Amino acid sequence: MKAAIPVRRAVERMRAYNPPLEGRTDKLRLDFNENPIGCSPAVRRALAKLSAASISAYPEQETVRRKAAKYFGVEPSELLLTNGTDEALSLVVNTFVGPRDTVLLVEPTYAMYRFYSELAGARIVAPRYDASMCFPWNNVLAALRAGPRVFFLPNPNSPTGNLLSTRELQRLLNAAPRTMVVVDEAYFEFSGVTVIPWIRRHRNLIVTRTFSKTAGLAGLRLGCIFVHRELAATMRKAQSPYPVNAAALAAAEAAMLDRGFIARTVREVRRARSEFERGLARLKVRYFPSGGNFLLVHFGDRAKEIVAALARKGILVRDRSSDFDGEGYVRITLGTLAQTRRLLRELKEIL
Ligand SMILES: Cc1ncc(COP(=O)(O)O)c(C=O)c1O
Repeated sequence: MKAAIPVRRAVERMRAYNPPLEGRTDKLRLDFNENPIGCSPAVRRALAKLSAASISAYPEQETVRRKAAKYFGVEPSELLLTNGTDEALSLVVNTFVGPRDTVLLVEPTYAMYRFYSELAGARIVAPRYDASMCFPWNNVLAALRAGPRVFFLPNPNSPTGNLLSTRELQRLLNAAPRTMVVVDEAYFEFSGVTVIPWIRRHRNLIVTRTFSKTAGLAGLRLGCIFVHRELAATMRKAQSPYPVNAAALAAAEAAMLDRGFIARTVREVRRARSEFERGLARLKVRYFPSGGNFLLVHFGDRAKEIVAALARKGILVRDRSSDFDGEGYVRITLGTLAQTRRLLRELKEIL
């Protein structure tokens, strides 16, 4: 047998990330912060109408990109469409991060920041949220003084739910003149805090958005990058020519026209979040305030048993204990009021 081809050290050292890849669709999925309400019926109609011509041609994204720019209030030259936020993050790393460059993130957070950075062979600096889930300001500001190449900052953060105000974001940007700050606004619709308009005055700012959450298109993979137009052109060079498929483009167009669906989702999820908070308080279960469509809940040493018992009842939630120092942290996505009431009933029985 011939000698094995050596694998890059960065890949060899990585831990495999193993999300579930089957068996979830028939369950009440409160484990991955998707939209448990589904997607707009207009999206399904648009997909049913996809023509053979558009399926058999390489996808043409310019019309949708122009419509998306209008929808988000930017110029088309300031926006890139991506294959989910995940491709946006990979594109940021491919554009800015070389081996041994430093990437800053605050953990626990969305796993793919570390994933793509490690893949590129970057050095990762990762201050942590403390036990009360406070943003570690001193450590972050100290890390920024060293000028890391990229700082990944989801706002709100997942799984902790932390939401920074625009004032706090301004403070971080001011402290990062040598760093590309990536504000991931995956949960923007639930928080209402955005810095997209700042891309014109901050060339060290990238904002990302996704159609996976409120719009309910996680299965189609569509995200956006907002960045100063000069940088957008540079980043486009590092992107494959057809990152977004024809189905995702057709779906996005329909989703953007149905603002009512987005508004109803946000209203329902916010009501569900309040109801869930009240229910948890009655059950004397600790939770952390969240700016997203999910809550981080502390079940302590009963977490594993509770997660398993809910799964037996067809309700999936995400045990995030391995991301924290202590045991028992579970992240739960919110959908409709009815789904939340079912969850609370089951929890009450288990507890
Ligand atoms: C903070 C954050 N960013 C991005 C994503 C994923 O977005 P996408 O589906 O667009 O890749 C998630 C998904 O859970 C997330 O929590």
